[in-house]
Amino acid sequence: MGILSKSDHRARAADQSRAVAMDHPVIRPWSPIVESPGRVMADRALGERLWDADGTEYIDASSLNAACGYGRLEIVAAASDQMARMQGVDLSMHDHDVAARLARRLSAHLPAELSRILFTNSGSEGIEAACFVAASYHAHLGRPRTRVVTFARGYHGSTTLARSLSQLGPTAHWFNDPIRVTPVTIPGTDRDARDPATSPLLLAAFAEAITQDPADAPMAVLVEPLINVGGGVVLPPGFLRGLRKLCDEHGVLLIIDEVFTGIGRTGRMFGFQHEEITPDIVVSSKGLSGGYAPIAAVAIQDYVYQTFVDDPFFGGVRYGHTTSGHPVACAASIAVLDVIEKDGLVDNARRMGTRLLDGLASSIDRSVVRDVRGLGMLVILEMDGDDSAAALAEGARKQRLLVRQQGPIVMVVPPLTADADVIDDIVSRMRSALDGVDG
Ligand SMILES: Cc1ncc(COP(=O)(O)O)c(C=O)c1O
Repeated sequence: MGILSKSDHRARAADQSRAVAMDHPVIRPWSPIVESPGRVMADRALGERLWDADGTEYIDASSLNAACGYGRLEIVAAASDQMARMQGVDLSMHDHDVAARLARRLSAHLPAELSRILFTNSGSEGIEAACFVAASYHAHLGRPRTRVVTFARGYHGSTTLARSLSQLGPTAHWFNDPIRVTPVTIPGTDRDARDPATSPLLLAAFAEAITQDPADAPMAVLVEPLINVGGGVVLPPGFLRGLRKLCDEHGVLLIIDEVFTGIGRTGRMFGFQHEEITPDIVVSSKGLSGGYAPIAAVAIQDYVYQTFVDDPFFGGVRYGHTTSGHPVACAASIAVLDVIEKDGLVDNARRMGTRLLDGLASSIDRSVVRDVRGLGMLVILEMDGDDSAAALAEGARKQRLLVRQQGPIVMVVPPLTADADVIDDIVSRMRSALDGVDG
């Protein structure tokens, strides 16, 4: 179909069955308008299980938010108590203790230098805030910088600035790029990326991107500790340590996007902790509130924050949303951290994630599967193409297992609460699903 005019679109809209439009009045984020067979009409959930509107029960290995599983009554109680006590206060007007308590609890899991927390409502906003903080930091030092170095296949969100930080096809947009971005591509195959031998190659590519023009130093390097949407790529050991060193050498801030990997998903509280580095800025979201409320946290090193304190023009951070640090989201997040600490979920993610990876890797010796890799409670099957990945995800759904498909990869991401029985059940359902893909 060629390009249609506005009146063509009007006519087509009138033609479309109104009943269909009324059935699906919600515009689904990041989804084609056409029906896809893999979707379920999610209705209720408990533990690692989710039921659709027809009452069919699934194991949900597709949610990155439900870190503590579904329906934890202590989290529900914390959020509802807070809602009854004081549902919302604009942090730009008044302080509230629940935000301060969450900031302290989160900081306790981070290196001591990352002691200042700025709250936003979503990962994309957190990334925008991190870029704003980084640009302001350099301006405060009297050397304005606006360029950012990122992975070409990183994903950092859907708002205009956040999406322009990525070269992934679906994030393309029609605006002028708000900041200049130097993309770095991964040398070799995604399967080889985790090989220690890739680390020096990657670091050389980042060094080249950082130093490409001595008169135009970047303000920040922004990376995920594991590339998720862009291919489920596990990065090599030593890479983040080397990147930290490079950033230090060139006075560039290191921003780690932990929106996906943070809060235990990779078997450490934060993905960067596998490398024992201290980033300048860390953004987390998703698992932070366990999916009970929208929130993101931008942790900032004290020395960066101090430049805002000393800023003669404003003396503060000119960034925020009316609902930043929403008390109900903060209360839910504190209760999530309680559960994670009390139930040892980070340790569980490491142990059960290994069981899941081993179970899937050892049982899957099929021509359609190119690679099985992972880190913590996050396992990626790289298939031989988008079609077989879609067939696998659909096969899993028929086995009443929900997984994520992104291009040729299928991601298995159960809640961090999954025990050995749930993991073994997932492995067995995936095996059955694979039988259907390659016969
Ligand atoms: C690594 C990463 N960064 C940022 C985002 C954007 O977060 P949000 O969807 O909450 O805006 C996502 C979301 O998937 C993500 O995975």
